Amino acid sequence: MARIPWESYDSYGENVKWVKHYCSNHQILLVGEGDFSFSCCLARVFGDASNIVATSLDSYDVVINKYERAKANLDMLYHFGAKLLHGVDAMKMKLHTDLQMRKFDRIVYNFPHAGFLGKEDDNRVITVHKNLVCGFFKNASRMLHPHGEVHVSHKTTKPFDLWNIEELASQSSLLLSERVKFEIEDYPGYANKRGEGERSDCPFPLGECCTFKFRLYSESDESIGSHHRSTQEPQMCSSERAYPNIVMNHAPIVNNNQCHQVFREYFDHARSTFGQADDYIFHSVPHMLRIGLERCSAESNVNPLNHYISHLKELQYMCKRRIEYLQNRLLEIDRPYGL
Ligand SMILES: C[S@@+](CC[C@H](N)C(=O)[O-])C[C@H]1O[C@@H](n2cnc3c(N)ncnc32)[C@H](O)[C@@H]1O
Repeated sequence: MARIPWESYDSYGENVKWVKHYCSNHQILLVGEGDFSFSCCLARVFGDASNIVATSLDSYDVVINKYERAKANLDMLYHFGAKLLHGVDAMKMKLHTDLQMRKFDRIVYNFPHAGFLGKEDDNRVITVHKNLVCGFFKNASRMLHPHGEVHVSHKTTKPFDLWNIEELASQSSLLLSERVKFEIEDYPGYANKRGEGERSDCPFPLGECCTFKFRLYSESDESIGSHHRSTQEPQMCSSERAYPNIVMNHAPIVNNNQCHQVFREYFDHARSTFGQADDYIFHSVPHMLRIGLERCSAESNVNPLNHYISHLKELQYMCKRRIEYLQNRLLEIDRPYGL
């Protein structure tokens, strides 16, 4: 039986409507929608969708051909004033023309799944799903208002628990704040979709699943954050699978000094994007360095720029050493092939 959404008043005395974790005055980004019924559920209860941006990876034509209810849902969202975007890749969405200047209170991806690529317990299939979620977190973490949350609803039974999404989130400086049982009855009208293959428009069995809520690490999480980061190995990315010899023998990075603390977002980013050749890093690396500066400014009571510049010099020195190390490793690998 559908649960009744509720209303309350915000601090300005305005009437706000709620659907479970979502409120009519949140700026909400929905990623990887199927037939857009989840976005539609929020819009219908809120009676307005001007704060909602609803996106799909598929183009408009693909969406309306794939899902019987999609056209009606999209028409309704449009009527309520939602921004609708198609062809939005969760792994690159930060750079999307219509999204790059926006920040959100909630970024929601329900049941991320990279498609039916083999058995769900096959390690290679799990890695592809993990890369999708990892790319999503990397982008979403940079599109949040300071107190915003990233939500992922996901099955918690085997083999889906092996995705280890908490750890994937931590690589993008996202900390689990809550894990709440996902109950479809909370979202009247929502129809979960397989999204791929001949039965795209069919539901998949939900079984046990949860909404994982993440927020950005803050200064007060420092002790949890640094412990979490230092005790967990970063997840393997595609280049690590292709060149395990290079990556598994990590080039020397001193990861317990101040420089590492200042540029921790940059280091996390460097690990997770290692070997990925695209122009994305020309945007993302300066962004990661800037986050370090901003955090350093917020934390330091002396002129942060003095420290920042000396740490930047140290970082530059470390980068040079790392490049030399990697070049030498590549030469060693090429040598047996006479290259
Ligand atoms: C299992 S379906 C879930 C669909 C919908 N969120 C729901 O709850 O019904 C997985 C969805 O992820 C989308 N998807 C897969 N790879 C994606 C990517 N790189 N970026 C955005 N969406 C993606 C698929 O198009 C599909 O709609």
